[in-house]
Amino acid sequence: MTDLAITERVYTCPRCSGLLDVSYTFDSESSAAKHKQNFCLRKTSQAPIDRSGVWRFRELLPFVNDPSKVVSLAEGNTPIYDAIRSAKYAGLDLLRFKHQGMNPTGSFKDNGMTTGVTQAVAVGATAVACASTGNTSASMAAYAARAGLRAFVFIPADQISYGKLSQSLEYGSQVVEIEGNFDDAMRLVRELADETDLYLLNSINPFRLEGQKTIIIEMMEQCEWQAPDWIVLPGGNLGNTSAFGKALHEMTTLGFIDRMPRLAVIQAEGASPFYQLFISADHSQLQPVATPQTMATAIRIGNPVSWKKALRALQCTNGLVEIVTEQEIADAKAIIGADGIGCEPASAATLAGIKRLAAAGVIESSANVIAVLTGNLLKDPSYTIGYHTGNLGDESGQQPINPAFANRPVRVSASKDQIKQMLEL
Ligand code: F0G
Repeated sequence: MTDLAITERVYTCPRCSGLLDVSYTFDSESSAAKHKQNFCLRKTSQAPIDRSGVWRFRELLPFVNDPSKVVSLAEGNTPIYDAIRSAKYAGLDLLRFKHQGMNPTGSFKDNGMTTGVTQAVAVGATAVACASTGNTSASMAAYAARAGLRAFVFIPADQISYGKLSQSLEYGSQVVEIEGNFDDAMRLVRELADETDLYLLNSINPFRLEGQKTIIIEMMEQCEWQAPDWIVLPGGNLGNTSAFGKALHEMTTLGFIDRMPRLAVIQAEGASPFYQLFISADHSQLQPVATPQTMATAIRIGNPVSWKKALRALQCTNGLVEIVTEQEIADAKAIIGADGIGCEPASAATLAGIKRLAAAGVIESSANVIAVLTGNLLKDPSYTIGYHTGNLGDESGQQPINPAFANRPVRVSASKDQIKQMLEL
């Protein structure tokens, strides 16, 4: 193990080239009970740092020396919803969703971007960069704008949804459309960060993951510190899986929760290198997928950078990986919508995965399950409209989706009588 100072601008270990962890000697004076009380009290405070559902838990991510320098958009504080139709669809008695799409830029990335950009400012960066399937870039663009930093986002050309692209443009980042896929963009931005002054804000940056830990911390607080049986999330570049594993490890070690929930990571079948690794006998090397395919573009990733940390998270939580088809994702998304919740396609992989795992008896019908919806419904309207009008999959070279839960619009002439007749009013 190599120790590096918190102020160093490095993303990988100089000795083994592996990714880095932020590690702390936590204050042993304060008990978990005292911290819990403090976290709760801050909900009544008007101080910006306490209004944030990330920084409210700052004793569990104590890397910031000067709290006045925190870059925040009052992120986190996301709700947990009961989802009756989704539970029934999956074959469970109960199912809850923690909706990270209710963040300021509409995805879970904000939890990690507030910490990543705060660290960028702390180390004196003036320009930040990331490769992205759309959400990281939208989030980074917003937080960089708040901090007055230049932002460069590298995205695979024509492969990210308009909702996300529009955010990066509106928040003033320089969008660079790479003629290649996400993995090409990721490789290039890593090389550029090594050779230039750009500060890298992908999830290989360990300070991003510190913020993403709070998704789990807040979830446990919402569960009154009683861990569920399962936490289910979609897997792409695997930063979130890594952050969840680290959060759960720290929370059990520090006595915040007294049992370990199991993580279930769900991947799209056409972009499932982590699943392939999980089911293979040899866990020593991930085999990248050269041309990953899925209409859930957020998780269209063939060479996830955080696979080793994610594997560690599975080992620590007795976790597992499942895959789901495009059809399963699309139908699950419509069911989540029918619960009045809604999410973007990648997030719906969770419900599809839970349905599979429940049918296989891996998740018991009485289990206490919380799935994380990673992005907002409005991120990818073309997908949703394509599904409900029966056109999903036609243009993307994918198998057309047969929408079992389509809710088609009807068109009528501008006549009250006709409307009454058609709608049987
Ligand atoms: N869900 C959504 C909505 C995402 O945007 C992502 C990743 C994931 C799930 C997967 O999370 O990478 O931590 O395993 N989006 C990244 C991006 C890659 O660039 O926005 P992960």
